Amino acid sequence: MIRLTERLQKIADGIHIGERVADIGSDHGYLPIYLWEKRISNHIIVTDIKKSPLNIAKKNIRGYISKEVMDFRLGSGLEILENAEVDTAVIAGMGGLLIMDILSKDISKSLSFKKIILQPRNAQDKLRKWLVQNGFKIAEENLAKEGKFICEIITVIPGKDKELEDIYYEIGIKLLENKDPLLEKFILKKIEIEKNILKDTKNKSSKNAVKQYEHSKNRVHQLEEVLNHVRFL
Ligand SMILES: C[S@@+](CC[C@H](N)C(=O)[O-])C[C@H]1O[C@@H](n2cnc3c(N)ncnc32)[C@H](O)[C@@H]1O
Repeated sequence: MIRLTERLQKIADGIHIGERVADIGSDHGYLPIYLWEKRISNHIIVTDIKKSPLNIAKKNIRGYISKEVMDFRLGSGLEILENAEVDTAVIAGMGGLLIMDILSKDISKSLSFKKIILQPRNAQDKLRKWLVQNGFKIAEENLAKEGKFICEIITVIPGKDKELEDIYYEIGIKLLENKDPLLEKFILKKIEIEKNILKDTKNKSSKNAVKQYEHSKNRVHQLEEVLNHVRFL
């Protein structure tokens, strides 16, 4: 039986028994292996834009599962799927802007899936804002530790969502609603980054440094407000 990392496990936990799944940009194929072994899904499409990671997925999957049970597809994003071909698409371990690019290629196709589980590595705020403004509703959010990183997992469904204050595009509102156990640590890390910038820019007189100092000062203030709110939840 395969054991997943906390990040992949939390993604897997969002997939329910009987769902048809596509793992977009699967690379190692660990998530599909888990979903098959645990009998969560028997309809799994494994994709990647590049041949070599798709071959790695094939090799790994064959190492765990002797029968040919998965559908391997080479290609970009959701282009290799038909409308509504799966219930759940997973797009994990990619940059937020790349995810946005993949989803925006054909919005009506992207909205044809019941659920999309996203795990952006960066630009999460831009991605959340784009999602809300393009017909996706944020249904669930989770944090997962991976090495020194705290990863964000964002599950969306088609639907209307309300626009948010900018800070809640950065710190997902569902993380607050669900009192995610890693949330305090997640915000503290962001504050630490800004405080380091404050230290670096404090006595510098260039226009950029002064601008950056003010920006970081505001961010510390905003983040500390959210942190206080979280501590009262
Ligand atoms: C860092 S790996 C993530 C693997 C796995 N999804 C995970 O979360 O652990 C990113 C994978 O996405 C693939 N990829 C990048 N752009 C893609 C695209 N537009 N469509 C499909 N796959 C893509 C890369 O080739 C790579 O194998």
